[in-house]
Amino acid sequence: MNKSLKTSLIALWILAALEISTTTADTLPQYGSDMHLGVQTCSGSTCHAAVQPWQNSSVLQNEAITWKKYDPHAGAFDTLASDRSKRIAKNLGIDNPQKDDTCLNCHTNNVPKEKRAKNFVLSDGVTCEACHGGAEKWLGIHVSGVGGREENIKAGQYPTEKPIARAKLCLSCHYGTENKFLTHRIMGAGHPRLSFELDTYTATQPAHYKVDADYKQRKSWSNGVKTWAIGQAVAVEETLDALTDKKRNRQGIFPELVFFDCHACHHPMSNLRWERRDSVGLDPGIPKLNDANIVMLRVVASVVDPDIGKRIEVEARQLHQASMKGGDATLKAADTLKSTLQGIVQKVSKHDFNTNEMNKILNALLEFGFHGEYVNYIAAEQATYSIGSVIEAMKDAGIIKGGAIEKVKKAMNMAYKAVKSDEKYRPSEFVEAIKNIKSAIEPELQLSKKY
Ligand code: HEC
Ligand code: HEC
Ligand code: HEC
Ligand code: HEC
Repeated sequence: MNKSLKTSLIALWILAALEISTTTADTLPQYGSDMHLGVQTCSGSTCHAAVQPWQNSSVLQNEAITWKKYDPHAGAFDTLASDRSKRIAKNLGIDNPQKDDTCLNCHTNNVPKEKRAKNFVLSDGVTCEACHGGAEKWLGIHVSGVGGREENIKAGQYPTEKPIARAKLCLSCHYGTENKFLTHRIMGAGHPRLSFELDTYTATQPAHYKVDADYKQRKSWSNGVKTWAIGQAVAVEETLDALTDKKRNRQGIFPELVFFDCHACHHPMSNLRWERRDSVGLDPGIPKLNDANIVMLRVVASVVDPDIGKRIEVEARQLHQASMKGGDATLKAADTLKSTLQGIVQKVSKHDFNTNEMNKILNALLEFGFHGEYVNYIAAEQATYSIGSVIEAMKDAGIIKGGAIEKVKKAMNMAYKAVKSDEKYRPSEFVEAIKNIKSAIEPELQLSKKY
């Protein structure tokens, strides 16, 4: 491109950027008002598709390569052509999953047709703009480098660094919204079970950015414990919204089974493994609501707002009990818990977790294991993500150090092994792993015996 053309293009872009996006910071990219330009626009070799990270740039510049090579989002549309997808589609009476919104809504950047620019193609999967927002208005200031983070956000870039916004973004596909939801009907057709934990999944995506001193100066940054805690609070909020949403919470005469612990029903009858969980107070033979995130939020609240923590314990138990009484009672109990939790997300996001509180959180997460909270696979899986995430943050903060690091790593591997396969899960093996984690860090942190 000749130089003067380039200069005038940049000038045009800046002009376009001055026209501030009508998309507000909390509108999810899929529903924003701006055009989506397509992944090609971001992946020039002098933009985000550099083969090697740049030395003199504040961002890595090789994001598109990381995404294309290692990030499952890049292949999400192709997944819809797999045999498994074809089978799911056939069972649901869907002709072609690559043409049906039921699947496209999560497996690609399925913005409305009028928001797709010339180079936009659905087959690119979950693209940059699916997370960072339609680039129509922000591309200009972004390329010119004249604007800071706030200007970019005002021009329609999604605030991915802010944990509440990020949690809402990821969960919109990794849990669902009122517009796209993986019901038990879709699971029954063969869709895999969804699981998610914000901090862990952010790392395994994998991250295509580096949090260094420069990053922290340019952007607000939250440590792993805070990201984890906010992720739990937002997940509970989304769950309660779905559970109280009359469009989502029933399937004919049945409650929507996706809210329940899958393995309460799905395990071989020869595998007798029922154990009482005191905190829920349910008898044998009753499917339990999946409360993994609620259990984690209890731990978060125990340091952020202990009164709310106590109320979550009481009201979650009432919610489980209500599920034995019927739909109306469940709705009422879910509403009660929902109003108790009003504002909890903001409260958690304003809280900075100190060393003492991180110790307390880790201790509580481990102690729950000794009190039968992780007898269900789904809870154990969520606890593993959570313990892993808190331990990583404590290592970063220099709280867990020296010889303890290796010991903790070994014990964590045991925990990951225990939850590797839902069909082979044995609670006793998991509790053993937790005992090992505890004894690896106990001398260092002087964890209390009792939570
Ligand atoms: C537009 C929907 C959408 C959004 C938004 C989204 N994801 Fe995903 N994600 C998917 C789909 C679909 C898959 C499965 C891709 C496949 O294998 O075909 C996936 C897969 C993943 C996986 C791999 C899971 C595994 O079991 O291997 C990780 C990790 C992940 N996403 C993290 C995130 C994070 C973190 C965010 C938020 C920053 C996020 N996702 C936002 C749709 C989305
Ligand atoms: C609410 C969002 C959502 C919807 C709707 C959705 N999916 Fe998915 N799908 C996901 C996510 C997220 C994953 C990754 C799950 C994980 O590994 O944690 C996934 C995973 C899959 C996988 C497994 C991929 C792999 O690599 O093993 C298949 C197959 C699949 N989806 C097919 C479909 C089909 C077919 C439809 C339409 C009937 C559909 N999905 C609708 C979110 C969704
Ligand atoms: C599944 C969601 C998702 C997808 C897809 C995605 N990103 Fe990101 N991206 C994030 C998150 C989360 C962060 C970290 C928070 C932040 O810095 O905003 C991030 C950060 C970044 C950063 C900031 C680095 C910094 O130091 O400030 C750049 C640049 C970036 N992404 C570019 C891209 C490009 C280019 C693509 C497509 C090739 C892409 N991203 C695809 C979620 C995503
Ligand atoms: C209250 C009991 C119950 C719960 C809880 C439950 N399911 Fe089901 N599930 C069923 C029943 C009943 C069927 C239908 C079985 C049949 O057709 O033979 C079924 C069918 C399925 C199938 C199809 C099995 C097949 O043979 O093809 C899958 C997959 C599935 N469920 C996944 C899940 C997932 C994932 C969850 C949790 C999010 C879950 N289920 C929660 C009762 C349950």
